[in-house]
Amino acid sequence: MRVLTEEPLLRYNTLALQGRARAFLQVRAAAELERALAWARRQQLPVIPLGEGSNVVLAGDIEALVLRMAITGIELLEEDDKQASLRVAAGEVWHPLVEWTLRRGYYGLENLALIPGTVGAAPVQNIGAYGVELASFVRAVHCVDIASGREHTLAGAACEFGYRDSIFKRSLRDQVIITAVDLQLQRKPALQVNYPALAAALAQQPAAAITPQAVFDAVVGIRRSKLPDPARIPNAGSFFKNPVVAAALAAELAARFPGLPQYPQADGQVKLAAAWLIEYCGWKGRCRGGFGVHPEHALVLVNRGGSSGADLLALAAEVAASVCDNFGIALEIEPRVYGA
Ligand code: FAD
Ligand code: EPU
Repeated sequence: MRVLTEEPLLRYNTLALQGRARAFLQVRAAAELERALAWARRQQLPVIPLGEGSNVVLAGDIEALVLRMAITGIELLEEDDKQASLRVAAGEVWHPLVEWTLRRGYYGLENLALIPGTVGAAPVQNIGAYGVELASFVRAVHCVDIASGREHTLAGAACEFGYRDSIFKRSLRDQVIITAVDLQLQRKPALQVNYPALAAALAQQPAAAITPQAVFDAVVGIRRSKLPDPARIPNAGSFFKNPVVAAALAAELAARFPGLPQYPQADGQVKLAAAWLIEYCGWKGRCRGGFGVHPEHALVLVNRGGSSGADLLALAAEVAASVCDNFGIALEIEPRVYGA
């Protein structure tokens, strides 16, 4: 086991921010994880799991053992003519997994194509896109407790999944490392194509042509047309969550701001499009120092040659303050901030 010290994290976060990990290890096997947790306990260092770093903001150095989760493997647990269950190791990369499931005829993940990151991070914020959330497919999440090294399994229903939310952001925050996720997928397509941008992209196709592969292709096309590729323009996707407000406030805002996109939720609340609020405030395409608001999507903050997470957070605070001034709504940052 080769623990690196004072390791620069620049290439391990898609915002390309500078920051070091006090200790750093790539974890490629379960036994290595066990040894690493024992080492951290002896050193009395906190432990932070990291996948592809596509949903983190490094605001400074991290005084912890950072474990880059790289354990791979896909195991078929069960398959019949209706369903297939898979156990996928935490270090598998999400998008190639979606491609693999489609090739095998296991359906459901097609709307979640091209989301960056690892399988182990996916339950943390319950990744979602184009009308579908990971929660619908999670049968179980396998974890190791950081403090004790003990393994345990949570059933999907115990993960407290919500919009960009789960138990891993709440009572289990910083407590566990996810080692594998069990997914239950369909053998017969059950397409979800109501999300407005997706429905529009598929509108020209005859119904028979709308297969899981066609949905996958449409989602990839939409995402490429408006979301910057982190390999070219460093970013962490949506920088803020879409605010969810009471129906009465949503109705009041709709009357004052015609055109503000609103998405009614099952519990009666209404989700608003943060991108629209930010664009309305005039931020789209604007830059501050080395960071900016993406010209194609106002919810994405991009790195234009900056290095300091503190500068990025200063821009985010300015954006949030003007949304609060104009609409009375407090935006919440979506990625996890470390080293602040
Ligand atoms: P990291 O950024 O490495 O980690 C994120 C958090 O999860 C950290 O707190 C980390 O400690 C924790 N974590 C990571 N691995 C583990 C583990 N094994 N066990 C326990 N905790 C762990 N998200 C969406 O939901 N929908 C989208 O459409 C979407 N689009 C995006 C587009 C772009 C261009 C980018 C850059 C990001 C986008 N995201 C989206 C956000 C991101 O892809 C997801 O949050 C993804 O799940 C992060 O995976 P990661 O491996 O990079 O996690
Ligand atoms: N819009 C604007 N201005 C913009 C961009 C969008 O007014 O600059 C409007 C659009 O016209 C649309 C609405 O905002 O009416 C919603 O836009 P979009 O469909 O792009 O989705 P979003 O709400 O901005 C969310 C997720 C994305 C996910 C997409 C698709 C959050 C915080 N973000 O974005 O997830 O890919 O829906 O489902 O929920 C991420 O989490 O990193 C991420 C990219």
